[in-house]
Amino acid sequence: MTSDTDAPARVTAVAGPLDPAAAEAVRELHRASAAADGVAPLSEQPLLWLTEPEAPVVHLLARTGDDALVGYAQLDVGTTTRVSAEVVVHPAHRRRGVAATLLARAQEETAAVPGRRLSVWAHGDVPAARAAARAAGLVVVRELLRMRVDLEAHPPADAVLPPGVTVRTFVPGQDEEAWRRVNARAFAHHPEQGRMTSADLRAREAEPWFDPAGFLLAEREGQLLGSVWTKVHPRGEAPDAGPEEEVGEIYVVGVDPDAQGLGLGRALTALGLAHLRDRGLRTAILYTGAENTVAVHTYERAGFTRAAVDVMYGPPGQAAPAGG
Ligand SMILES: CC(C)(COP(=O)(O)OP(=O)(O)OC[C@H]1O[C@@H](n2cnc3c(N)ncnc32)[C@H](O)[C@@H]1OP(=O)(O)O)[C@@H](O)C(=O)NCCC(=O)NCCS
Repeated sequence: MTSDTDAPARVTAVAGPLDPAAAEAVRELHRASAAADGVAPLSEQPLLWLTEPEAPVVHLLARTGDDALVGYAQLDVGTTTRVSAEVVVHPAHRRRGVAATLLARAQEETAAVPGRRLSVWAHGDVPAARAAARAAGLVVVRELLRMRVDLEAHPPADAVLPPGVTVRTFVPGQDEEAWRRVNARAFAHHPEQGRMTSADLRAREAEPWFDPAGFLLAEREGQLLGSVWTKVHPRGEAPDAGPEEEVGEIYVVGVDPDAQGLGLGRALTALGLAHLRDRGLRTAILYTGAENTVAVHTYERAGFTRAAVDVMYGPPGQAAPAGG
């Protein structure tokens, strides 16, 4: 006899925001999976997009006969060329084909627009993700490094600003549009960061961790040239953090292409780290594309080393876009 939990999962696609109960079920699934694997399966943006009315996403909900949510995939359908997915399966329901069912449905949704390709992020280079991706005909197309620095062993260097450049903190309600414009220029080749909208920015400003004191803008003659945005993770919530450890993040560093190569990226990184150290933090992390050699070099010079890698799977032959 087959019980409800052994039956193949049913997948429902939802194009709008999830209702509060479904969103909470996904968060619960995410927490259970993170606790079992020691790595969070969904990243920040998909979690914010669960209930965001403007989010360019399709939610895939996999349920068993008793309606329990056993798997979830979020498809970012915001571009015409690529669908990017994150997938999570409840630890108690693995190895029963739930991921394969979700991936097959994701492939179908992707194929609804001719020419689109599917790529899937896996957090942590874990064998199960590699096997599921291989079974779906996907190969590694992009790698995102998580880097880490001990601020006691590597105190931030003194920031040396290019001539005429001054630094001030971000003013909510005033600086959004200028920041969005420079961010889009700095990350023009980046599939996610470069598309950040004013609504995405406002959603982050509404998060409990948001603190303009840790969001620094570099200007010359009133013109924004670049910025560093830091984030302090609540105790125990950063990847690899001990239960009492508060970890800082260099969340976004971006320099306008016209001002790159002048030392601003190095100076802004140093200022962001000094802010985190002055908040009493010992550890800072950041995420960057493994192929973004200028950024990786800048961060290694600031004392960061590689701590982990997230892997994006996609069809063979897909070039890696410049990452951040
Ligand atoms: C990565 C980034 C922030 C660096 O800022 P920047 O102001 O251009 O960099 P700097 O002038 O401070 O240079 C930092 C280091 O990179 C090196 N570098 C800068 N541009 C380079 C280039 N085009 N090629 C090779 N090395 C380069 C510098 O020589 C310097 O190294 P050094 O300290 O050994 O001398 C900037 O290029 C940027 O905004 N890129 C797009 C957005 C992005 O990728 N952000 C990081 C995402 S995590």
